Amino acid sequence: MKILCRRTGKDTRHLWAIAMETIVGTILIVDDEPDICDMLNDCMSGRGFNCHTTQDPVYASELLRLHYYDVVISDISMPGLSGLELLAAAKAFSPASRVILITGFSARENLAQAIALGAFDYIQKPVDIAELTEAVFKAASGVGAALNLPTRAATAMLSNAKAEQVISETTRALIHAVEAKDPYTRRHSEQVTHYAVHFAQAAKLPPDEVNSIRLAALLHDIGKIGVPDHILTKPTSLTEDEFEHIRRHPALGADIIINITSLGKEAAMARHHHERWDGAGYPDGLAGSDIPLGARIIHVADSMDAMLMQRSYKKGYPVQKMLGEMLRCSGTQFDPDMVSLAANWCQQNPSKLILATKEAMAG
Ligand SMILES: [Fe+2]
Repeated sequence: MKILCRRTGKDTRHLWAIAMETIVGTILIVDDEPDICDMLNDCMSGRGFNCHTTQDPVYASELLRLHYYDVVISDISMPGLSGLELLAAAKAFSPASRVILITGFSARENLAQAIALGAFDYIQKPVDIAELTEAVFKAASGVGAALNLPTRAATAMLSNAKAEQVISETTRALIHAVEAKDPYTRRHSEQVTHYAVHFAQAAKLPPDEVNSIRLAALLHDIGKIGVPDHILTKPTSLTEDEFEHIRRHPALGADIIINITSLGKEAAMARHHHERWDGAGYPDGLAGSDIPLGARIIHVADSMDAMLMQRSYKKGYPVQKMLGEMLRCSGTQFDPDMVSLAANWCQQNPSKLILATKEAMAG
């Protein structure tokens, strides 16, 4: 008999066999419905896992404080403490435990929060045992990237709605998720969008391309969902290993965006927003006009905003210093045409610059 996973349609018997042979893991099962607790306990115990169950989420958070569990399977809607609060507790007391939430995909705000809080997976009720077992196997064995969940979320949100509404809702959910991880990224993405749209209009691009650049700019750093929090918000300089994590965000972001129907162009712009004109950028080392135009525009807008903004480790650059830096890197880091276009725009539209302090304009 085949055991098909509802999500992938694949036969999962081999995963179960491997799980039973190689994994001796502990699972904490939390659901206020006793029947579901019993059912999950029977299924997972039968597959070789050592399970604890409780219907009380407050007691579950105490257990997490005292014991290590490889995997936590939790309902979201429970009296006393929600599954999201329990997820936050798990991340605080036992960061290595992987949490699988069980609920319906209808609550999109929950989904955004689940992604931001670091849930490993999010399974829709009624629970498909093959789907849950596959997720538990991956969680217990350490298989599966942090992007499993946001990528699937984007796909799931597409299923029953019109494309435009979904794009806007998915974009909002993903941006909320990044904002919860790092408030700077949300503000930065909006400011980069502001500059990128003005530059695209100044370049006289047609309205559909301007709109495409607007969406890509909003989503360009979405891959930071997959960068560990302590690296993303580290106030001091990064080690080479930590910087390697940061360098993955454009490709990770593109992998998420590509799941949203009709956003192929935007995914490419997000993937290439750290490429350099001279080919020394990442992730693919593209050079010159091989880099999509939208990505070249976002790269200039991104760098400009990063220089102008104040961070915990640096002051915001004055406008003239920022422009000097852009010109210095014209033809190496940046497309020279985009630099002159951006510099002209800045000089003609000083009131549209978003600055850390008033003094920055005069500097
Ligand atoms: Fe970036």
